[in-house]
Amino acid sequence: MNYLHGYQDKEQARLLEQSGILASLIYEKIDFSGCHHILELGSGVGAQTKILLDLFPNLQITCVDIEQKQLIKAKENLREYEGRVRFECQDIHYPKFDQIFDGLFICWTLEHLANPSQVLFRIKPFLDFGAKVFITEVFNASFYFYPKLQGLLQYYEAYNSHQKELGGNPDIGIHLGNLLNTAGFQQIEIRNGGFLCDQRDGERLKNFCLYWKTLMKSAEDSLLKSDKVTPEIVLQMERDLDSLSDDENAVFFYQFAQAKAIN
Ligand SMILES: C[S@@+](CC[C@H](N)C(=O)[O-])C[C@H]1O[C@@H](n2cnc3c(N)ncnc32)[C@H](O)[C@@H]1O
Repeated sequence: MNYLHGYQDKEQARLLEQSGILASLIYEKIDFSGCHHILELGSGVGAQTKILLDLFPNLQITCVDIEQKQLIKAKENLREYEGRVRFECQDIHYPKFDQIFDGLFICWTLEHLANPSQVLFRIKPFLDFGAKVFITEVFNASFYFYPKLQGLLQYYEAYNSHQKELGGNPDIGIHLGNLLNTAGFQQIEIRNGGFLCDQRDGERLKNFCLYWKTLMKSAEDSLLKSDKVTPEIVLQMERDLDSLSDDENAVFFYQFAQAKAIN
């Protein structure tokens, strides 16, 4: 599978780190209380699964990912939750389960799919009537930073256009309302979450610039291999993100979208 972030060890570690950095933003409104067994699509190395299992101690989760390597790492990361978590290696465009779930969780996954609407439509028969749904996805067009730094600008454009070429959608978050509505889900609510960093809190600004650098670099191999960026642009992007937080007028802003719905 031609996947933007790849499956190297450093990417698997990044997913764990990322889940910790963004947890307070993502989990503020997520509520699976009352649910017994939920489905997580595109579960990766189990970074979000771990947070969910801690937040909802009575919950069981079936983790689904297309990549065996991710599931092996997830099993390792979730050892302490044995009995509460199951693993399925499937392409979620073609879901197949021998049971029904009372919740659905998806995070940073629909952005990579060729046909997210097919996924939402085909997963419905495996969800209980009234199952809770929470989906968190990127809205990369919302990214704003100041001052305008050419290396970061150029790399970000390449990152997003490459994701589109791979069949994904870097702005899928903003379409979640329509996607869920077309698939027949009910009581759909969309909220935005994210960060606005500036010199009011220089430490926070620095930390989010650092986080962003790791996120951008997760696509480095794929971008270099497909000649979308040069090593010089990669270096300049890194320098720009290092220098941004030193600027007295620096602004760093990003919004993701989170959908809540009922089956
Ligand atoms: C960016 S990772 C997010 C992982 C996890 N949700 C998290 O937030 O840490 C996206 C995951 O989706 C998986 N994925 C991509 N396409 C898939 C598909 N068609 N079926 C199942 N999993 C898929 C990838 O293998 C990867 O592990």
